[in-house]
Amino acid sequence: VRQLMKQRRPPGFPPGPSPIPVIGNIVSLATEPHVFLKKQSEIHGQIFSLDLGGILTVVLTGYDCIRECLYNQGDVFADRPSLPLFQKMTKMGGLLNCKYGKGWIDHRKLACNSFRYFGSGQRQFERKISEECMFFVDAIDEHKGKPFNPKHLVTNAVSNITNLIIFGQRFTYDDRNFQHMIEIFSENVELAVSGWALLYNAFPWIEYVPFGKHQKLFRNAAEVYDFLLEVIHGFSQGRVPHAPRHYVDAYLDELEQNKGEPGSSFSQENLIYSVGELIIAGTETTTNTLRWAMLYMTLYPNIQERVHREIDSVLENGRVPTMEDKQKMPYVEAVLHEILRFCNIVPLGIFRATTQEAKVNGYTIPKGTMVITNLYSVHMDEKYWTDPGVFSPQRFLDSNGNFVKREAFLPFSMGKRCCLGEQLARMEMFLFFTTLLQRFHLQFPPGTVPTVTPKLGMTLQPQPYSICAVRRQQKS
Ligand code: HEM
Repeated sequence: VRQLMKQRRPPGFPPGPSPIPVIGNIVSLATEPHVFLKKQSEIHGQIFSLDLGGILTVVLTGYDCIRECLYNQGDVFADRPSLPLFQKMTKMGGLLNCKYGKGWIDHRKLACNSFRYFGSGQRQFERKISEECMFFVDAIDEHKGKPFNPKHLVTNAVSNITNLIIFGQRFTYDDRNFQHMIEIFSENVELAVSGWALLYNAFPWIEYVPFGKHQKLFRNAAEVYDFLLEVIHGFSQGRVPHAPRHYVDAYLDELEQNKGEPGSSFSQENLIYSVGELIIAGTETTTNTLRWAMLYMTLYPNIQERVHREIDSVLENGRVPTMEDKQKMPYVEAVLHEILRFCNIVPLGIFRATTQEAKVNGYTIPKGTMVITNLYSVHMDEKYWTDPGVFSPQRFLDSNGNFVKREAFLPFSMGKRCCLGEQLARMEMFLFFTTLLQRFHLQFPPGTVPTVTPKLGMTLQPQPYSICAVRRQQKS
């Protein structure tokens, strides 16, 4: 066994915790992996290694180290690992988990252009988000201040913004099929980093073990795929070539134009994968951010009150917020930034891999090594933040109450594979949050205080909680 272990860490490879034979360090990742990995970095350094059942992995910790790799050596750290799970799910195609190369460039470009063309670049797009905000607060109003779990409403409202870009249409809040799809897709985001999934990556033959969470993951993925296939077919009806109405149309234009090209990465299958990835990447993250924001506003009534005051002073007579108002609302901006920093929606980013041999801090990392970016460690980096463990929007304000940008703030990661939905997410967060708090005062049902311990997965979300949204008397 000793001989095997020696072989596993190549010369010049960063050190790390001792692996248990065969399964390596997989068990240590069972609870709060981002916290465990940050603690490990205090022993082994900013860059250290893990053995995930024979899959050698490098973990990057702290702002300096992550910036050095993802930004200064952007091309080197731009790949995704060819893990058996990703191979099975999207064959390393699509967009989010696509190998770094022509396929990724083509798909990223098309998605970015579509997001601009059908989204933020369109004048009426902001109005469409505001419309969704109204559906959202009206649906909350139906609870008449009684306790309810906001998870489903937030999910529906948020996913509708991406739906507008991808399909040109929103889904109503009672569309059970769409909701079910999102639910099992989001369950997969949780399962993707479960012990079973990590085991599957190390030992793909457990595919033939008939029980275990990985089987659930495969079943969910197959169901999501069938749903998307059908929906995409439905929304492509009536398409006029070169006059795209939405992302699906734009993709089909590319697919037709590149037909017969030997190197083309556009395919029916990659269309389904990228639609799925865009829907889940856009919904899961923004929804979790808003759910955390609602929870923290309720936990900190004095912060909520200051948000109310700012909203009332900028939005006279209860008028609808627009993106132009954002710069006049530094406190709201500070609160949303602190939620993103403190709650760490994507604590370990999305797994990366090296495209070629890399040299970092004197270590050598071979091509194809899996890389984990501990974004949580950036937001808790004591070199850049004072008392990082304290929730304090104030840290994003100067002494005059103006909003200040902070460097060690990477909720959307950085470099070549950074989040392509950042701009859209920021619009959604601002408009949903201000519309919600303009109309409601949020409080817990009497006698209850929910936990802030997150539910673990690729993303961190609050445990289900109930909240009362009580209509406010607008002060003019
Ligand atoms: C990638 C965070 C919203 C689409 C990522 C990554 C992070 C992230 C950390 C990983 C980047 C890396 O590999 O280093 C977030 C957060 C969001 C958010 C915190 C909301 C608050 C969105 C939205 C969309 C989106 C609204 C689109 C609808 C994507 C895609 C990728 C990605 C497609 C993969 C990019 C690539 O591999 O080239 N996001 N995201 N995200 N995000 Fe987001």
